[in-house]
Amino acid sequence: MSPDLLKALHQLVIDLKGYLICQQYLGIREIPSPSPPASPLSPSALGDRRQAMAELKTRVLSCTRCRLHQSRTRVVFGEGNIEAELMFIGEAPGYDEDRQGRPFVGKAGQLLTRMIEAIKLKREEVYIANVIKCRPPANRNPEEDEIAHCEPYLRQQVALVQPKVICALGTFAAQTLLQTGEKISRLRGRFHSYQGIKVMPTYHPAFLLRNPEYKRAVWKDLQMIQRELRR
Ligand code: URA
Repeated sequence: MSPDLLKALHQLVIDLKGYLICQQYLGIREIPSPSPPASPLSPSALGDRRQAMAELKTRVLSCTRCRLHQSRTRVVFGEGNIEAELMFIGEAPGYDEDRQGRPFVGKAGQLLTRMIEAIKLKREEVYIANVIKCRPPANRNPEEDEIAHCEPYLRQQVALVQPKVICALGTFAAQTLLQTGEKISRLRGRFHSYQGIKVMPTYHPAFLLRNPEYKRAVWKDLQMIQRELRR
């Protein structure tokens, strides 16, 4: 067996182990159905979920799986309400996020906060994460192997939050979650599915800052999300 294949298998086993630990914390003893639970969690299940998220965060904060760990200032794990019904997923940390270790805290983040408030939610009520947890140098696009190393962390975050709806911000997040090369302009405006959870792709707030004429389309997407949350 080649060293590369062995390394990939080793990584797979580590990821699977992490995923199974998360499932165990959730009280799952067999492979779960993809639909999220309808009933509220008991306090102990919620405590277990918080603990699993804290342990996942500890692992991610010391991650050295890809080259991005060499240039990062801080890992940006993600933040928010672990019981959130709505989760936003962006691309990767930028300059401000890398400095502060928090997602969406720069100009695009301020716009995201306004988008959240436009649908009558507070930023603290949702959960915000990125596909990639470390800033790519000079904000270049993340590379394939970087995504492959980082995406299992996101998958576990989604499994722990179990939101009703995910809003994928921009081409990169939408294409990664939905495993497609389709353009964001064709993906947005309708729900898709990721791990059995409804996903609404929409334009990235950084793109909106440069192209405010797309705000109307984003508003439509946000209204669809709001309607889905109220159903
Ligand atoms: N853009 C992203 O995609 N994520 C952030 O956290 C900040 C900017």
